[in-house]
Amino acid sequence: MAATIDLDEIRDFLVELAKQAGELILSKTGNTAYDDKANSVDLVTETDAAVEKLVATKCIEKYPHFEFMGEESYVPGVTKLSEKPTFIVDPIDGTTNFIHSFPFSCTSLGFAINRDPVVGVVYNPFLNLMYTGIKGQGSFLNGTQKLPLRQPPAGSKLTIQNALIGIEWGTQRSGVNYKVKTDTFKKLAAEDGSMVHGFRSLGSAAMNMCAVAAGQLDAYWEGGCYAWDVCAGWVILTEAGGRVVGGNTGIWEPAVDQRIYLAVRGGDGCEQFIKDFWDSVEGQLEY
Ligand code: IPD
Repeated sequence: MAATIDLDEIRDFLVELAKQAGELILSKTGNTAYDDKANSVDLVTETDAAVEKLVATKCIEKYPHFEFMGEESYVPGVTKLSEKPTFIVDPIDGTTNFIHSFPFSCTSLGFAINRDPVVGVVYNPFLNLMYTGIKGQGSFLNGTQKLPLRQPPAGSKLTIQNALIGIEWGTQRSGVNYKVKTDTFKKLAAEDGSMVHGFRSLGSAAMNMCAVAAGQLDAYWEGGCYAWDVCAGWVILTEAGGRVVGGNTGIWEPAVDQRIYLAVRGGDGCEQFIKDFWDSVEGQLEY
């Protein structure tokens, strides 16, 4: 079946769907009530559920033979990503941003075949940024601007020292992973460590990955997010020449639902950067 699937048609369908989702998100912005999930920093709103309902309904209606996986309908231990063609969707990636009206939330619409991300659409309606990618066909911002948008200075190599790196604090604020992350952040930032150019937290895995795809961030290190946070951005980044590897050392080909990732832009020095970054991780992230 995979050979007969028209990926351009799916991209076009997801772009239209992302615009509808964006209208819904914008209409609900401001003074947004929320609930806690796992703890007081793991948040959800009624709009997350409403957008997922819209997206799921349209995907299932148009492609009844495909699978659907979404953040809000995911049941831990029950929902499993299969080899079948699957829409992998985060209705609002950056829910905390949405609650605070910080304009970096997006709808992240991915499509995978054999667990391999092949179409990605990420739409931030606040800034009107529509990122799209199809495996083997490149990736674009707003339909026409080919990614990456920024090329590194001629002759320069990506190193840990000259990198601007996306990180997130995540929703686990204690335990092993919190320690690994914060110890690693400290080491990367310190003058007697790597002294990176800087860190940025856009508050959305998909937005971080698109920023790496655009060349605005050099890398993004994440432990704890899910396939719906990264599937769409994965296509957009790899089609821009970047790579997604594991967030712990030695994982060159992570699964889309691995939950621990290092996303790196393309260009000279990329492979050495990955090895150096792995050497900088203070311990091992666990999931
Ligand atoms: C979260 C964001 C955040 C990442 C978390 C995700 P949500 O998604 O992508 O950047 O660090 O792991 O859960 O909850 O806003 O959809």
